[in-house]
Order: sequence, then C-alpha cells, then structure tokens
Amino acid sequence: MQIPLKIAEPTPLQDRLQRPLRELRMSVIDRCNFRCTYCMPADSLHGRGIFLPLVKLLTDHEIKDLVQAFVDLGVRKLRITGGEPLVRPGLPGLIQALAAIPKLTDIALTTNGVILPRLADDLAAAGLGRITVSLDTLDEAILDRMSGGKAKLSQILNGISAAESAGFTHIKINTVVQRGVNDHTIMDLLAHFRGSGHSVRLIEYMDVGNCNHWNLTEVVPSAEWIKKINAKWPIRPVQRRTAAETAQRYEYVDGQGEIGLISSISVPFCGGCTRARITADGIFYTCLFANKGTNLMPLVRHNQDRDELRERIRSVWERREDRYSEERGQPGHDQKKVEMYRMGG
Ligand code: GTP
Ligand code: 5AD
Ligand code: SF4
Ligand code: SF4
Repeated sequence: MQIPLKIAEPTPLQDRLQRPLRELRMSVIDRCNFRCTYCMPADSLHGRGIFLPLVKLLTDHEIKDLVQAFVDLGVRKLRITGGEPLVRPGLPGLIQALAAIPKLTDIALTTNGVILPRLADDLAAAGLGRITVSLDTLDEAILDRMSGGKAKLSQILNGISAAESAGFTHIKINTVVQRGVNDHTIMDLLAHFRGSGHSVRLIEYMDVGNCNHWNLTEVVPSAEWIKKINAKWPIRPVQRRTAAETAQRYEYVDGQGEIGLISSISVPFCGGCTRARITADGIFYTCLFANKGTNLMPLVRHNQDRDELRERIRSVWERREDRYSEERGQPGHDQKKVEMYRMGG
C-alpha cells in the first residue's frame, strides 16, 4: 500500500502577539468624490497637493505583485479600499488580474456607492466577490452635511440596486454613528434594510487620522444600540465566524436578517487583528492608527526580486505589536496618525 505523501504547510507567519497575517486591505487611490466630515473634512484640505499625484500610484501590475507576495505569506482575503476605489481608472481590469491569483479566496470592496450604477456589472464580471456600501443615514439633509455636501441619497440607493442587479448579495452597509449628528436616524435606516438580505453595521465613530476633530462624547457605545434595537425588534447574538471579524453580529429573532456592531472604542478587537494595509503608493502599515509604515514601492518598481519583497513583509509582520484600540488614551498615543483616506478603512 502506498502511504500518501503529507506536504507540510509552511509555518504560518505570526506577529509578536501570535496573530497570523490573513487579510490585506489595499487602497487603490486616495481621492474621493465625497468629503465626509469624519474622514476628509473639506476645511482640512488646505490648498492643492494633498492627494497623491497619479504617477505615484502603484500600477495595476505592481498591485498584483504586492498582493501575490502577501498571498505567498498567508493572506487569503483582500479588501479593496480608497479614498473611493471606484474613482481609480480601470478598476475592473485590476480586479480581474487579482481574481486570477490562486489561493486568494475572497475579494471584497468598500465604496460610497455612487459610481456603482456604471461599474457594478463590470466588477461582478471581473470576479469581485463582495461589496460593502457606506451609508450613514436616510435623511437627505444629514447625509448632505456628513458627506460635505457631496452625497445624494438617491444615488447611493441606486448604487445598491445596481450591485443587487449585478448579482451581489448580502451587501454590507457601513454606517458611522455620531451622537448628535445622525444617531436619531439610525432606527429608520435599520427599518429600511430589515428583510432586504443586506446587513447594516453600526460603526462607532473613531479617532482615525488627525483632521476630524474627534471627541469621545460623539461616540455612541454599541451597548446602547443593542438595548434600543432589542426593545423594538428582538435580536440575539450570532457566533463569530472567526476571531478576526471586526463586527459583533446579531440577528433579528423574527428572521428579518442580521446587523453588525463595530465597536473599536467600547469593545476593541485588536486581539484577533490579522489585517495588513497598503496605501495607493505602496506604504505598508500594520495598524489603522499607525503613524509609521514601510515603503514597499522601491521593492516592486524597478526590482524583480520577489524574495526580497516577501522577506521585507515578513520581517515587518514578525515585529508587529500594534493594539492601538486597546491602548487608546494611554501616554505615547498622541503622535500624528495617517489619514483614513490614505490608509483605506
Ligand atoms: P469583512 O471583509 O466582511 O470581514 O469586512 P470588514 O468588516 O472587515 O470590513 P469593512 O471594511 O466593512 O470594515 C468595517 C469598518 O470597520 C471599517 O470601515 C473600519 O471603520 C472598521 N475597521 C475595519 N478594520 C478595522 C481594524 O482593524 N481596526 C479598527 N479599529 N477598525 C477597523
Ligand atoms: N470612524 C469610523 N468609521 C470611519 N470611516 C471613515 N472614517 C471613519 C471614522 N472616523 C468608515 C467609512 C467607510 C469606511 C471606509 O470607513 O464609513 O465605511
Ligand atoms: Fe470618501 Fe469614504 Fe472618506 Fe467618505 S469615508 S470621504 S466616502 S473615503
Ligand atoms: Fe488592528 Fe490596529 Fe484596529 Fe487594533 S486598532 S484592530 S491592531 S488595526
């Protein structure tokens, strides 16, 4: 009898807190057609030149090489972020190239939805697996204010419909909640999406970047939502699929679907954080709140040595000990952070 050969899996790459590298969030452009007050408030964009010149963006080919290197090191899940990723020219072509990478089993994208009517079909055909749409309220005036005068509700809802028509199911709706701004409109938003098959995720307003004038008093702790929602539509917790999930999920007891709570402030989830981030110009960060990164651009542009690229990524991950959300407020955390629209969400 022949004994089957057992091929040893490579030892998983782990950081100093034993967290494996599993997910890559790749920003493909830092520009955006919105000016959300919690991310890129118009008053902070003084003058010109804050966005990357287009020649500094990684090319499609360079992005593919980078993603491939991360996949070689254990990444199985990719999320395309921005700015607004759909404003990058030729995005479906890039997705198609990435979808051809063996072992990359999950490709998702976070968008503000406005350009989906034009691109949803092409993205689906290119092999994009999942879509998340950001939508903070159904109240036109508040949406206008939160998006810096840029968002129209009908355009975002049309974007969601276009994604549905293109075959995307279980769309996640990302909702940043700010006390005194949109919190009184959240129950309407939940009512709208109950029974739709999509899942609203209420995100605690976070102190990302340096320009949103974040204040703890504007954070609504998720526990408040659980109580309030449960009183109107009874909910029960859903088991986390993996320790790396950002959201605590709940389902409506009456079968009308699921919601998520992303509680980076009140219930930090750094312990399961397996996420790496890369900016559109190739800087590799190991935390959403980082202030220093590693420039991988020189290793993919004019350099074909992929071993060197992998080794650099490996050495950064092995030294990683970020847990910003768990340490928030402690001394030493007052350094300048990278802006969310550069880092990707
Ligand atoms: P899946 O790929 O479906 O697991 O989605 P996700 O929930 O990881 O991705 P998504 O981009 O929808 O994340 C939702 C939001 O959670 C982001 O926009 C951020 O606001 C926040 N978030 C995601 N990852 C992290 C993280 O590592 N740390 C913190 N503090 N917040 C995060
Ligand atoms: N706090 C919480 N979430 C934020 N996002 C952007 N800025 C913040 C913030 N300050 C979310 C957006 C979008 C994703 C890219 O990140 O709503 O869903
Ligand atoms: Fe643009 Fe998203 Fe930032 Fe809003 S949160 S300004 S949609 S990148
Ligand atoms: Fe990961 Fe940093 Fe977010 Fe913690 S704060 S979950 S380490 S990205």
